[in-house]
Amino acid sequence: MKNILVIGSTGQIGSELTMKLRGLYPQGDVVAGYIPGAEPKGALLESGPSAIVDITNPQQIADTVDRYHVDTIYNLAALLSAVAEVKPQLAWKIGLGGLFNTLEVAREKNCAVFTPSSIGSFGSSTPHTKTPQDTIQRPDTMYGVTKVSGELLSDYYAKRFGVDTRSVRFPGLISYVAPPGGGTTDYAVDIYYYAVNGEKFKCPLKPGTLMDMMYMPDALRAAVEIMEADPSRLKHRNSFNIASMSFGPEEIYTKIKEYIPDFEMEYDLDPLRQKIADSWPDSLDDTCAREEWDWKPEYDLDAMTRDMIANLRIKLNINA
Ligand code: SER
Repeated sequence: MKNILVIGSTGQIGSELTMKLRGLYPQGDVVAGYIPGAEPKGALLESGPSAIVDITNPQQIADTVDRYHVDTIYNLAALLSAVAEVKPQLAWKIGLGGLFNTLEVAREKNCAVFTPSSIGSFGSSTPHTKTPQDTIQRPDTMYGVTKVSGELLSDYYAKRFGVDTRSVRFPGLISYVAPPGGGTTDYAVDIYYYAVNGEKFKCPLKPGTLMDMMYMPDALRAAVEIMEADPSRLKHRNSFNIASMSFGPEEIYTKIKEYIPDFEMEYDLDPLRQKIADSWPDSLDDTCAREEWDWKPEYDLDAMTRDMIANLRIKLNINA
C-alpha cells in the first residue's frame, strides 16, 4: 500500500498530481498538504484527506507523515522564477529550507521523496542546445539556485542516509486546469486563454526565445514513473532532464493560428522574464531518462494545442 503526502497540493502541479495519484493508488491515502489561504476545493477536497502542511514547519510535515503512515512525499512547494527574483529570501526559505525539512522527516521516518527540479537549474554558462544531463549548472536566478542546490542536497541524502530521493527537471508546464503564477514560461499558458477568448495577446518574450515546454499530462506521468522506476537501473537520481518540445513565441503563435485563424499577437517585452529566459537552455537532451527509466513523451506542440483549445473552450464555455 502506498500512502502519499503531496506538499503544495493546491498549486500548479499539485492540484492535478494529487488527483492522479488518488486514481492510481486507491488503496492508500493521498494527503493533500496545503497552506492556509490556499485550501483545497471541490474534487480535490472531497476525494481524499487534506492537512495543513507548511513546508517551513517541520513539525507539521512530521505529524502528517505519522498520522497517515506516509511512505512517499511529493514536495511541490516553490515560488516560480519571476516571483522568486522579487522575493529571493522567501524563495530560499521555501525552496531550500523547506526541502531540508522534508528530507529530515524522510530520513527519520523512511519516506521516499520527489522534488521537481527545472530547466531553471541551468544558467548562461550551460551549453544551450541539447543541454546534456551532466553539465555546467551555474544558474543566474534565485529559483535556479534553489533548484540546483536542491538537486545536490537530495543526492546527498540518498548517498549519505539512503533516503530514496528522485527528481526530474521539468520544462515549462502547460495546462488548462490550474493557472500558473509567476513563471518565465507561463506566457505559453496565457497565450491559449487569449486565443480562445478572441483577444490579442501581448507576448512578454521576443521572437526566437526558445525554451523547453511540456504538456501537463506528460509531466504528471513523469513524476509518477520516476518514483516507480526500478532503482537498480538508475545511474542518476537528482535530477533527470526530460523533454518533449521546444519552441519560441512565434512558433506557438503560428500553431494556434492554424486552429484560430483570427488570433493576433504583438510583442511587449518584460525585461526580467526575457533575461531569465535567455539564461535558460533552448532544448534539453533527455537520453538518460529514456535509457534509465524508459521516459517517453506523448504530446508534441500540435497535439497539445488541439487539446488545450478544446478543453479551454469547455472550461470557459466558449463555442468555436
Ligand atoms: N515554469 C518555471 C518558471 O518559469 C520553470 O521551471 O519559473
